[in-house]
Amino acid sequence: LSNVLGFIGKKQNSFLASDSAEDFLVVFKGNIENGEELKKWLAEEGLLTEGEATTTKLLVQTVKYYYKGKLEETIKDVLDKVQGIFTLGVFTKQEPGKVVAVTKDSSLVIGLGDENNFIASDIISLLPYTKKCMLINSKEVCVLTPEEIKVTTISGEIASKEIFDVSWNGADKGSYEHFMLKEIEEQPAGFRTNLSGRVVNNQVKFESLTLSSEIVNRWKKIFIVACGTSYHAGLIGKGVFESLLHIPVEVEIASEFSYRGPLINKDTLVIVISQSGETADTLAALREAKSKGASVLAITNVLTSTIGRESDYSVYIWSGPEIAIASTKAFTAMLLVEYLLALYIGQIKGTVGDTQAKEIIGALFALPDLAAKILNSTEQYEKIAQKYKEHTNAFFLGRGFDWPLSLEGALKLKETSYVHAEGYPAGEFKHGSLALVTDDTFIIALCVQKNTYEKTLANVKECRARGAKVLAIALEGDKEVTQYVDDVIYLPKVNNFIAPILTVIPLQLLAYNISKARGCNVDQPRNLVKSIVIE
Ligand code: M6R
Repeated sequence: LSNVLGFIGKKQNSFLASDSAEDFLVVFKGNIENGEELKKWLAEEGLLTEGEATTTKLLVQTVKYYYKGKLEETIKDVLDKVQGIFTLGVFTKQEPGKVVAVTKDSSLVIGLGDENNFIASDIISLLPYTKKCMLINSKEVCVLTPEEIKVTTISGEIASKEIFDVSWNGADKGSYEHFMLKEIEEQPAGFRTNLSGRVVNNQVKFESLTLSSEIVNRWKKIFIVACGTSYHAGLIGKGVFESLLHIPVEVEIASEFSYRGPLINKDTLVIVISQSGETADTLAALREAKSKGASVLAITNVLTSTIGRESDYSVYIWSGPEIAIASTKAFTAMLLVEYLLALYIGQIKGTVGDTQAKEIIGALFALPDLAAKILNSTEQYEKIAQKYKEHTNAFFLGRGFDWPLSLEGALKLKETSYVHAEGYPAGEFKHGSLALVTDDTFIIALCVQKNTYEKTLANVKECRARGAKVLAIALEGDKEVTQYVDDVIYLPKVNNFIAPILTVIPLQLLAYNISKARGCNVDQPRNLVKSIVIE
């Protein structure tokens, strides 16, 4: 029966279930908020037997309860009854050849094939089957047969839908052993794509964004909201936007955004950052921001994603599909876009003058070659990974711009290598965590930012005096650092302000090599999925 329903979700977070008679089949991805209530109700109706209490089983029984001969009508009752954020595909033997699909505040894409049509939660999953896609909005009801697709609104009117061709090449590892390495190595090309056509006569412009001085001058405060790696990109963004726009910026973890009742209004710009554009926490924050009247600008890799579509403005990071769970090329592309966006808005506001713009743009255009230089000398990483792979506790220390990168370095090591790792503001380390340092501790010291260099080095000395093994990331030509650390990975000399875009690359390579050395599943770490569509 499961072959009948051509649902291609991400294997790890979509679920398939049928009723015991195999009359009805449901594919589900998402989060149901009133599961307990449904369970009680179905039990009272005598529709829940032993072993039918998984969320997907509850949904099958709910579909069965409401079924009166037409699945597309049934699904409307199901949407009323079931609370949460989810995508559903349903099938019944009583209407063979037909699948009905719907999403409630999550993502649903239809793929149009030659002989079959498909439903999926994202475009990437569809690419092995078809590049012709159609995006479905929340609560639109899709009826698919192999020959035909009909999409209606919840009230039954035909929804007009655009069919488009995806230009990506899909998920092909080529000659690489892992997607993560391929994606790390794609960064120089990604920088070139990101910059191309976006700077004319030292003026930044975006293909998908036109802002007027009236709009940008209205913004008195910026919030950046995101999760995981994208949140770390936001922390770097804070420094970039504050420095170039002279507007206060707050950075929030999306899942925490609404709890504090953020002080936002129509004069606030909320920048949401999401590679996938489908992260439920970020989407919820976006909706909260919009409900309070703020302008929302998305920085995303998928403009057609729910986050891209629901935002007032969107900027594309041009990374192409990122398949490895550990985000790498999307992170640096997000950073690059933040610099470009700050320049763009700053040029409109007049807070960025011509000389400053020219200097930063010049430095940004040097990035592809500098990144290529890092990637052309990676021999040392295997040796370093062998040396440090047994340490199960690591601290990444840095100050200023190096601090968010310490968080990102630690996250990469945690998720790829299952090593307990923490990123820490180097100056804060002595206020407690230093107690954890023994001769078993692995410290990765980020000694790139010039204005914090001496102070970070002082923290490194404190750790080394307590037996820690220290690996430093420093700028080419820095001899001083070698006296205080066990190993150094050098970065080519780079403009201090844009250095974060390069500093992270050695951290990505370190995590990749340690993951390999520890025999971990580099691309698909346990317990994790690429886009997290539950809150
Ligand atoms: O698609 P998003 O950028 O919204 O995803 C956010 C996080 O889930 C993501 O960055 C996650 O932390 C990565 N696995 C980190 O490598």
